Amino acid sequence: KNIVILISGRGSNMEAMIAERDAGRLPVNIAAVISNRPDAKGLETAAAAGIATHSLDHKAYAGRDAFDVALAQCIDEYAPDLVVLAGFMRILTPAFVRRYEGRLFNIHPSLLPSFPGLHTHQRALDEGVRIHGCTVHFVTAELDHGPVVIQAAVPVVDGDSEATLAARVLRQEHRIYPQAVRWFAEGRLRLADGRVQVDGAMA
Ligand code: GRF
Repeated sequence: KNIVILISGRGSNMEAMIAERDAGRLPVNIAAVISNRPDAKGLETAAAAGIATHSLDHKAYAGRDAFDVALAQCIDEYAPDLVVLAGFMRILTPAFVRRYEGRLFNIHPSLLPSFPGLHTHQRALDEGVRIHGCTVHFVTAELDHGPVVIQAAVPVVDGDSEATLAARVLRQEHRIYPQAVRWFAEGRLRLADGRVQVDGAMA
């Protein structure tokens, strides 16, 4: 299977996928990495791994629609089976989301449907929740919604700061995101009535 990864910054989730692929545990071809920020650190990481990279600066486009059309053109050159949003910090237009329906993943740093949007770790601390985590989901038109593929939970511990909690969650992101992509690549994910079924998954 062919995947294209979209990033905006550090790209550690992308890196986790590259590592899993290199270890022979992720049967995908990472065809390209695209960033909407030319200075995204992850672009260097991807290029160093020999992956085709593109930067499409959203500020150079007249608006969201124009940017998303250009982005889709860039993606479609690689004819990916799956498009992976990995720290891609742009809201996508409904037309874009429709185009990749059923083959567009996102990772969100909370246990959705809790804490959609930004600053999830600080909000979790402010609410005093004891369990926090991350979610991989299929992208639908509604921001940070869409059928859940996999989640991981972490404890919130006394004395946690936004940084310590984020780091604990990030370690789980690096585990579950490659897992979700692996399931997709193995053809084990099925969408039925807006829910994800994983064929052969252990409870
Ligand atoms: C991750 O925490 C992801 O959940 C969020 O942005 C961060 C991206 O990190 N959407 P990285 O670029 O993958 O290192």
